[in-house]
Amino acid sequence: MKRDGDNIVTIDGPSGVGKSTVARRVADLLGFSCLDTGAMYRAVALKASGAEVDPRDSASLSRLLSKTTVELSPEGHVFLDGRDVSELIRTEAISSLSSELAELAEVREFLIGIQRKIGEGGNIVAEGRDMGTYVFPGAKHKFYLDATVAERAKRRFLQNKRGNFPISDVRDELRRRDRRDTLRAENPLHPAPDAVVIDTTRMSAEDVIAAIFLRTKNLSMHGDSN
Ligand code: DC
Repeated sequence: MKRDGDNIVTIDGPSGVGKSTVARRVADLLGFSCLDTGAMYRAVALKASGAEVDPRDSASLSRLLSKTTVELSPEGHVFLDGRDVSELIRTEAISSLSSELAELAEVREFLIGIQRKIGEGGNIVAEGRDMGTYVFPGAKHKFYLDATVAERAKRRFLQNKRGNFPISDVRDELRRRDRRDTLRAENPLHPAPDAVVIDTTRMSAEDVIAAIFLRTKNLSMHGDSN
């Protein structure tokens, strides 16, 4: 018999480990949608950055969120209040603010409500920090991707087309974000007890995708041809 979570794949892990690339590709292979939850935190950060509210003021923040919609299209675009903000959320300033806002219970509750609603339909690869531990604890296939800070900084550095930061700055920023993600009170980052932990330090993205697909391909919507 099918249970809730049977057709949900979760992929968690720290910043810069390559979750988005891997999750999108695994979703394509399975014929699932990809739920990029980091993009949702970034969209809220974009809204807060343009609004006249202090995010630390809980009442103002709740008021702001009550007037906010965040949606993801099947193609992976992010819509804030109906506007496609997929490009605007990929700046360093928004990265940093989203990491701060992700510590706040109001923001997490707001976004987790949306994420679970999307999850009700199943057939998703959900990617973030707390997918396997908190948002979809019943998911049958859980993965936690890890890599050393040095390796993640290298990947970020090579992928970063916008900034001209030295790699030591990228490494420092990742360390700051790791601390915030793992030490926060609300849903801190750690592997779910039933997650498959993959140390990707010496693996290519293709290797990681293959490792996850091997374990999940029975869920594929494409039949036996994969
Ligand atoms: O994965 P990302 O860099 O796009 O995520 C942006 C921020 O959102 C990141 O600093 C951590 C936070 N985040 C979170 O707290 N929980 C999630 N499920 C996803 C992202």
